[in-house]
Amino acid sequence: MATAAVMIYLLFVGVILSAAAAALPPSPSTSLITAILSTLGFQDLSTAVAAANISGATPTTIFAPTDSSLLTCPSCSVPLLLQEHSIHGLYPFQFLRRLAFGTKIESVAADRCLTVTASSANVFINGVEITKPDYFNNGLIIVHALQGFVSHLSPTSCSVESMTSLSFLPQPPSTAALFNRRLMLKDGMGWLRTNGYSILALAMRVNYSSLSGLKNLTLFAIDDESIFIDGGGSGAYLAELGFHIVPNRLLTAAELVALPRGTMFPTMIGGRNLMVTRAGDGGPLAPTMINYVKVKRFDLVVNKRIVVHGVPTPFRRVNLPAM
Ligand SMILES: *[C@@H]1O[C@H](CO)[C@@H](O)[C@H](O)[C@H]1NC(C)=O
Ligand SMILES: *[C@@H]1O[C@H](CO)[C@@H](O)[C@H](O)[C@H]1NC(C)=O
Ligand SMILES: *[C@@H]1O[C@H](CO)[C@@H](O)[C@H](O)[C@H]1NC(C)=O
Repeated sequence: MATAAVMIYLLFVGVILSAAAAALPPSPSTSLITAILSTLGFQDLSTAVAAANISGATPTTIFAPTDSSLLTCPSCSVPLLLQEHSIHGLYPFQFLRRLAFGTKIESVAADRCLTVTASSANVFINGVEITKPDYFNNGLIIVHALQGFVSHLSPTSCSVESMTSLSFLPQPPSTAALFNRRLMLKDGMGWLRTNGYSILALAMRVNYSSLSGLKNLTLFAIDDESIFIDGGGSGAYLAELGFHIVPNRLLTAAELVALPRGTMFPTMIGGRNLMVTRAGDGGPLAPTMINYVKVKRFDLVVNKRIVVHGVPTPFRRVNLPAM
């Protein structure tokens, strides 16, 4: 109930601030984050938003230390702490829980990375527990509350000593062609990240090593808004991401709509195939369906390495004849 009240109040604040923004030129998005943090009770952190230049204009996740946690580091700079505890992109709690132990995520502060360690139920950010997961989430800003001892991140916090870093590992290109293929995969992921498919792009980064080994692939994508629609939806899609990837095939819209009903493709999950359950013409009246899910948006990304189409829900498991 209290959370609902906070949400309604924040919507109200959002409306007021949008109205104010129309009249006042300076940075409405930092004011919105200030209002969100202060409403949630992070008074000290909220005063540092403008100085930290944290903008709510792009998807951002903030690991917010409580006021009493900030007191554990009297010599710390609060704006710098806020930058170090903010990351680009949306990282809901369920996603953080599934990250490999010790995963590093680049923070907004230059050359500083946060380390995520999860136990069965709890997630720790640089060793500090998330005590209020998903305390706020409006689809653009996520706030998780942290309670514990905080300190500044070290200059070596991003150094890649494990394979679990979320940063792209610099890979020595053995040939120019291989290097170009990697760039094209990254281009595709970059497009997804900035066009409403940021959670998918993140999952691809986490699994980059298995994807970068493929010469080409076709991916069926679910956008950030739809990924959480039916509760466990995101879990189902991300856990079975491989079921939505056809390896070693570049199926553009033109090819996809030309396929007859019953055409099957292997996916990255061994033994789990996809099938064209309805041949379509690409239009809304005769949609192409795969495993009984409509292909909603064709050719979101097309390059020599990756083709991406949009689907509204994860593919259903259906009993398909053996290939
Ligand atoms: C604040 O952030 C914006 C957008 O990220 C950037 O263009 C600007 O240079 C930053 N300003 C400062 C003072 O860091
Ligand atoms: C990464 O790939 C493995 C198998 O290669 C899979 O089990 C896991 O669910 C994938 N993780 C994500 C976040 O997609
Ligand atoms: C995609 O990769 C497969 C397997 O390496 C290859 O046979 C095929 O020619 C590639 N398709 C395109 C269009 O490059």
